[in-house]
Parts: sequence; structure tokens; C-alpha cells
Amino acid sequence: MSNRYALATVAVAFLLLVASCADYLQGPFHHRDGDDDHDTTEHGDTTGGGSTDTTGNTGGGNTGGGTGSHDSSVCFTRDVLPILITNCTMAECHDADRPKEGVNLTSYDAIMHGRETIVVSGSPSRSKLYESLVTDESDERMPPAPRSLTKAQIATIERWIREGAKNRDCSADNGGCNTSNVTYTSTIAPIMTTWCTGCHGGSSPSAGINLTQRTGVEAQARSGALLGSVMHAAGFASMPPGSQRLDDCSIAQIKAWIDTGLK
Ligand code: HEC
Repeated sequence: MSNRYALATVAVAFLLLVASCADYLQGPFHHRDGDDDHDTTEHGDTTGGGSTDTTGNTGGGNTGGGTGSHDSSVCFTRDVLPILITNCTMAECHDADRPKEGVNLTSYDAIMHGRETIVVSGSPSRSKLYESLVTDESDERMPPAPRSLTKAQIATIERWIREGAKNRDCSADNGGCNTSNVTYTSTIAPIMTTWCTGCHGGSSPSAGINLTQRTGVEAQARSGALLGSVMHAAGFASMPPGSQRLDDCSIAQIKAWIDTGLK
């Protein structure tokens, strides 16, 4: 595992931990218990995970928010899809073109209506998608090493399935999109971590483009490729590949960051 990959992993884990530390204090998750209902009691979060959303960024706060309080359920588009896109949909894995074992993880429809049923609404333990994340069989466990999901990411997916695997999009709940005071550290880095660094990080980043460091992101911003690719503009490879565009707020924030001089 390279240092960069490790750093990115630590950064994601940290953001998620901050958002869901209350869960952790109450003890570890029981990924393998067959009793789906049992976990409900472990998500009592008195910190109100939703409050992190007021910044309008799509970063760790939101993803972590997936493990937040009872009344805020997981939003597929905001909390689950980015985990799958950046960790599972690279070429020759679960992309749209030639998905491994026919499992295409690039969109809600593809996940729910694929060749094989991989999600059983309400039952993580009967869902292949979830089971593949927690199985003891190391050669079947997803994603294959050296990639791995954090406990919080696995918990988000578990909770999404348990809550009925709905196609919720919470961008409207975010209290509007904050495009003022956009900075690399507070806004852009979390977007990259959420959506991009699974491919554009590690020891062999896609297209040789590393987006785990500010310098790498700035270089793509200066060349126009950052905005062009996330806007799916002509002349650029659409990013993330084979998937829908990022939420409008993230794109607006990336644009604001570029327009205001990459602060
Ligand atoms: C599933 C893996 C994957 C994810 C996730 C991903 N990329 Fe890429 N990216 C690639 C690959 C592969 C290429 C090379 C594509 C090509 O040349 O056709 C690429 C190319 C690019 C390029 C160069 C585009 C061009 O036309 O010059 C940019 C910029 C880029 N990615 C940014 C991003 C950003 C920003 C995100 C997150 C929003 C992202 N990527 C998410 C795999 C990924």
C-alpha cells in the first residue's frame, strides 16, 4: 500500500469517524450478524449528523451522515453511490462496459436491476452486495486488496439496504448549495475523496492523474480538464466514467473554486 493511498484512506476514515464517532463509542458494528433489525439500536447518534451538511459539500460529512441519527436515512445518491463509483467501477471491475460477473455498480438502476439480484431491500445479510464487503473468504471479499472500504462506508451500505435500498437523493435537503468561501481544504478535497481518489490515487492512479494532493487537483483545474470532465463537456473524458454526473452542488463548488482563483 503506497503512502498516498494510505493517506487518502486515513483522510476518509477520519472524516467518517468525526461524523459518526457516537456510533463508534457505542461499540463496533456487527457486520456479520444475520439479524438485520438488531443493528438499529447501534445507530443512536445524539450529535445530529445532519448538521455537517450545512456547508453544502458532498464530502465526508455527508457520507458519514449516512450513519447519523435515526430520522435522517441514508441518501443513495449522496452517501452510497460515491463509495461504489470510486472504489468499484474502474475499468475491468464493475463498470458499465464490461462489468465483472455482470455486476454493474455505476447507477441505481444498474445495481437494482442487473442480471443478478445483488440487493435484497431490507436485508443486508441476504444481499450479495453487502455480503461481499464483509465475507471472511479473503479471495471473495470486495473490493480486492489493496483496496478496502472503511467500517463507516460498509456501515452506510448496510444501513442503506436495511432502510429499504431506496433511491433517495438528498441534495435538496442540504440547505442550499454554498458556493461562497469555497476552499481546497474545506470543499474540494472532500469532493475528490468522495468521488475521485479511489481511481485517481494509490500506486497507479488512472490516467496518471493523482487527485489526492492539492498540486494534482490544481494542475487539472488549470488545464480545464477538471471542470470539463465533471461537467461531461465535449472534448473531455466524462468523470466519473460511465456514471451520472456529480450532484449539481459539487459541480458548482468546483466551478466557484476555479473562478475565484483556486483558494
Ligand atoms: C472509476 C475510476 C475513475 C473515477 C471514479 C474517476 N476517474 Fe477520472 N479518469 C479515469 C480514467 C480511466 C481516465 C482516463 C480516461 C480516458 O482517457 O478516456 C480518467 C481521466 C480523468 C481526467 C482527464 C480527462 C481528460 O479528458 O483529459 C480528469 C481531469 C479526471 N479523470 C478527473 C476525475 C475527477 C475530478 C473525478 C471525480 C469526480 C474522477 N476523475 C473520477 C478513471 C476514474
